[in-house]
Amino acid sequence: MRIRVLGSSAGGGFPQWNCNCPNCDGLRRGALRARARTQSSIALSQDGTDWLLVNASPDILQQIKDTPALQPGRRVRDSGIAAVLLMDAQIDHVTGLLMLRERGTPLPLLATPEVVSDISDGFPLTRILAHYCGTQLRELPVDGSVVALPELPGLEVRTVSLASQPPPYSPFRGRPRPGDNIGLLARNPASGAQLFYAPGLAAIGPELLDLMAACDVVLVDGTFWTNDEMQRLGLSGKTALEMGHLPQSGPGGMIEQLDRLPARTRKILIHINNTNPMLVEDSPERQQLVQHGIEVAFDGMELEI
Ligand code: MLT
Ligand code: MN
Ligand code: ZN
Repeated sequence: MRIRVLGSSAGGGFPQWNCNCPNCDGLRRGALRARARTQSSIALSQDGTDWLLVNASPDILQQIKDTPALQPGRRVRDSGIAAVLLMDAQIDHVTGLLMLRERGTPLPLLATPEVVSDISDGFPLTRILAHYCGTQLRELPVDGSVVALPELPGLEVRTVSLASQPPPYSPFRGRPRPGDNIGLLARNPASGAQLFYAPGLAAIGPELLDLMAACDVVLVDGTFWTNDEMQRLGLSGKTALEMGHLPQSGPGGMIEQLDRLPARTRKILIHINNTNPMLVEDSPERQQLVQHGIEVAFDGMELEI
């Protein structure tokens, strides 16, 4: 199974259009060892031709241009994107659906009922798309059963409910329900190898840790280095945890959690906010990750399991 990181940044991207934090300003001036990043999305394929798009980022058109495999060119109108699966209803994960409206047939769209309600009501994407290509909505099971993907034979995918937050526009912001945020498990039936993907993850309980320990690659929430990162920079009153993201550093943080996984599990951080100091390749924070055997995802990163 091929896994391609289309966008490794959190909402806003890196650099963010209106941000002059040390990272965004430094990247713009060419003063930092860091790479620009687009907003959060990955794609999976068993055959390298038809892909499952996981999240539809506001930057999707750029991501498609940067990924020739997503444009196989079999017909006068064509795309390698066979279906879309959503991890949540956050703006950085769903807005790209509007950019896929020129499709000739309804877009196969897999999401939980909680996510479907947010993108049909607070941010009525499914109702808008009904006037263009339309969507073929399919409810995602979060009970561990295999997701039916008739467009993508050979791709074995399961989803699990996670602790995080629905988007700020959701009536359930601050009181998340199971299904507002999910994680994805993808297994290569030939090798038995597994990927776990969770760009929004606020807590890791023993059950989830066991599930992650059974995976060959975990691609997880790398949004913030510290819980008060946005507050310290004067950019937000909210902590990382209030926004549904477990910070990397500190007691109980993501580094500590990933340290509990077996050495054979490849550990990669994704959905990285532009304020995060680990984006700077020669920073002490990045050095700390290297010491823990933790990688930082980048746009265009390819993985194979
Ligand atoms: C998040 O992951 O917390 C959100 O995507 C933030 C945002 O919408 O900008
Ligand atoms: Mn996000
Ligand atoms: Zn910034």
